[in-house]
Amino acid sequence: MPKNSLLVLGLMSGTSADGIEAALVRISGASPKLKSKLEGHASLPIPKPIRARILQIAEGTPVPAADISQLNFRLGHLFAEAAIATCKKLRVPLKSVALIASHGQTIFHQGPPIPFLGAKTSSTLQIGEPSVIAARTGITTIGDFRPADMAAGGQGAPLVPFADYLLYRHEKLGRVSLNLGGIANVTVIPAHAKPQDVFAFDTGPANILIDALVSHFTKGRQRFDAGARIASRGDCLVPLLEKLLADPYLRLQPPKSTGREYFGRTYIGKILTQGRKLSARPEDLIRTVTVFTALSVVDALNRFVLPRTKIFQLIVSGGGTRNPLLMGQLEAALAPIELLTSEKFGVPEQSKEAYAFALLAYETFHHRPSNLPSATGATRPAILGKICYA
Ligand SMILES: Nc1ncnc2c1ncn2[C@@H]1O[C@H](COP(=O)(O)OP(=O)(O)O)[C@@H](O)[C@H]1O
Ligand SMILES: [Mg+2]
Repeated sequence: MPKNSLLVLGLMSGTSADGIEAALVRISGASPKLKSKLEGHASLPIPKPIRARILQIAEGTPVPAADISQLNFRLGHLFAEAAIATCKKLRVPLKSVALIASHGQTIFHQGPPIPFLGAKTSSTLQIGEPSVIAARTGITTIGDFRPADMAAGGQGAPLVPFADYLLYRHEKLGRVSLNLGGIANVTVIPAHAKPQDVFAFDTGPANILIDALVSHFTKGRQRFDAGARIASRGDCLVPLLEKLLADPYLRLQPPKSTGREYFGRTYIGKILTQGRKLSARPEDLIRTVTVFTALSVVDALNRFVLPRTKIFQLIVSGGGTRNPLLMGQLEAALAPIELLTSEKFGVPEQSKEAYAFALLAYETFHHRPSNLPSATGATRPAILGKICYA
């Protein structure tokens, strides 16, 4: 790594709000020739009451502005503590970290403009006050990456495709990057792609439905189906699977994005109602949504990607890589496309997004844009984020 490299700590908490992922990345050069290498990573828990409040707000429950304001600062402290704990774990002095990249916790995202108080408006809100992170760590912190893209006419998402392009592009092989977080999203990188050839969209649910059913049936004692152990005991309910596969979101033309607003409480309520009609056992419902999740990704690839470009490899990241049923279904349905995990490219599955935001912050720090207009719909490249000097 050249002498003028920077150590950047990426912090991410996704739709699942299951924890804070941290990735310490050594970065040098400039896009598209930027070089990066992971120095270490960590996962830190989000305390239960904080997670519960995040999920409540993200599902659209009306809450006082006071709570959002307080949570913004409380999360800022939590992210700062996560940064400090990560450096301690990795035995890296805080002083050697040039920059923190903090995505923040999304509590609301409206990508395409919709009518609001007499004007079409889009907006996004990630909380976890970066000024607090900068003050507590003494490290310059960049946060709030999405608004600049939105202000440039984009949907503010997805932003990870910039990193996918840097990490995965290949002269001869078409590749798709798939992240299985709460929501599943793909970045398509055709062989020999220029940045403007890259496209990306959310295919639908990843772990969000599985997690919600597991929490429901265990009354919150379990948060996810570890190792797909519950689903493995169940049967797939074909009538329900067919209903789910008829979901209009799957047919919607990309670019498109989704979240807890759609695949949230109301959606789960409908699945539970169907389940009662079919006298389903909990394990049957969990298996059915797991299969649906895999097939919704396959459907998106068959419908919107493979007719346009040849794909040789699918590179998977996110917590869903630890669900063997989900991965097995994907592999079986997509053969002969090769399924790999991001680990093969030097990025551990759980820290892929934290790693990506470290790259975005590095570009911002050097006054360079890092949105891909072909992925977000922005009318121009934009320098992303807000800088809080320590
Ligand atoms: N051992 C495991 N077995 C099955 N699923 C897992 C396992 N570990 C994590 N997951 C799933 O991954 C999810 C978290 O994935 P993550 O990539 O952190 O999503 P997000 O970006 O939305 O926070 C968990 O909620 C869970 O559903
Ligand atoms: Mg997570």
